[in-house]
Amino acid sequence: MTRPSNNLPVSNIDLYGDEALSNPFEAYRQLRDLGSAVWLERVDACFIGRYVDVQAALGDWESFSSAHGIGLNPIMNEAWREALICTDPPVHAERRKLFAAALGPSALKPVAVSIERRANELADRLLAMGTFDGVADLACDLPVNIVMDLIGWPDDIRPGLLKVAEGAWNGAGPMGARTEAGLATIQSLMAMIAEIYDSNRVMPGGYAAQMIAASHRGEIDRETAIGLLLGYVVAAFETTISAAASGAWLFATNPGEWNKLRANPSLAASAANEIVRMETPLQKFARYVVRDTTMSDGSIVPAQSRAIVAYASANRDERRFAEPDRFWIDRRERQNLGFGYGTHNCAGQGLARMELTAIFQALAARIARFELADEPVRICNNITYGFASLPMRAVAV
Ligand code: HEM
Repeated sequence: MTRPSNNLPVSNIDLYGDEALSNPFEAYRQLRDLGSAVWLERVDACFIGRYVDVQAALGDWESFSSAHGIGLNPIMNEAWREALICTDPPVHAERRKLFAAALGPSALKPVAVSIERRANELADRLLAMGTFDGVADLACDLPVNIVMDLIGWPDDIRPGLLKVAEGAWNGAGPMGARTEAGLATIQSLMAMIAEIYDSNRVMPGGYAAQMIAASHRGEIDRETAIGLLLGYVVAAFETTISAAASGAWLFATNPGEWNKLRANPSLAASAANEIVRMETPLQKFARYVVRDTTMSDGSIVPAQSRAIVAYASANRDERRFAEPDRFWIDRRERQNLGFGYGTHNCAGQGLARMELTAIFQALAARIARFELADEPVRICNNITYGFASLPMRAVAV
């Protein structure tokens, strides 16, 4: 597509290059300052980055559709067409019910006890280690173990699954080497899920067993069941892992906020919210623009184009947040868009918030301070933001 015939500001910023992916916030600020919507000529899509506009777009599925896919390339959008995240109402409402049954408050109640137990064991283990990796040792434990149980994944598949799923979100970027690698990952993951589905090797009582049962009852077909499982696996791991590691990094680099949490552990839930605002594990997705839509500054996003809805940019919008680049666990502005908004708001946020709260509460009871033991390494991913490695040291209370 060429530049649309309207007056949107145009930018040549390379939002999907290594530099912006490892530190995107300055690019977001420049784009926000240009307008409510900016035409990114490198990817032929509009960038929507101001809080008020991202929220409005996410709340208006009739103008900003997910049913044409949430990626910037047709291969991803085709591969994901059965995932919950790539549907519009009324299909969306029917499929979302399947998630609500598995991830709603009553389903999560019994899980809370094992989350708390695991978080305490994790904190003891990290303290005993002294020096550890904030990703592999701290952040992976709860999301991997708790979610594997909730899905009911067969034991033999568990160790390999995380590796197979790694980098899957890259598939949602504009075509190029990084995106192609992500698409290959998604293919492997789908093949693995299809094999488990066809051999019915899941644990009884888990989400996967529910999906298989629903498809055997004829409520959904095989492709939909596999698509929904794919969405669950990809949505649940990298996001929470990235949030937990980001939280450890934020506390290590903001010791005053750690002291605040230690003095008042009931701030852990609000700290989890602030971690997701600051670092926004899922930075941005795309929508298909169904009709010309007027933004808050009067500019018009053109029909039949792609729009990038940038949760991460909205979460650092100075028009909405006081000193948006500061990490304050007791920040007054509590609402942010890190878990999305509207129709597709995160179906797993109850679980994610529970895990993050439990991890940092357990750590605050035992650890006087975190320190960085070496230079952290950022991941470069088209969609997710986090660390590849985060060498840390913990000092006991
Ligand atoms: C800190 C961790 C997490 C973050 C930051 C996060 C973020 C998000 C965001 C931004 C969306 C909106 C997508 C859109 O607008 O199209 C979303 C949707 C979704 N998330 Fe999460 N997520 C997290 C954890 C989880 C977990 C643990 C699960 C599952 C157990 C999960 C399952 C889902 C699902 C199924 C959707 C699609 C909902 C729909 O389309 O109706 N997420 N998430």
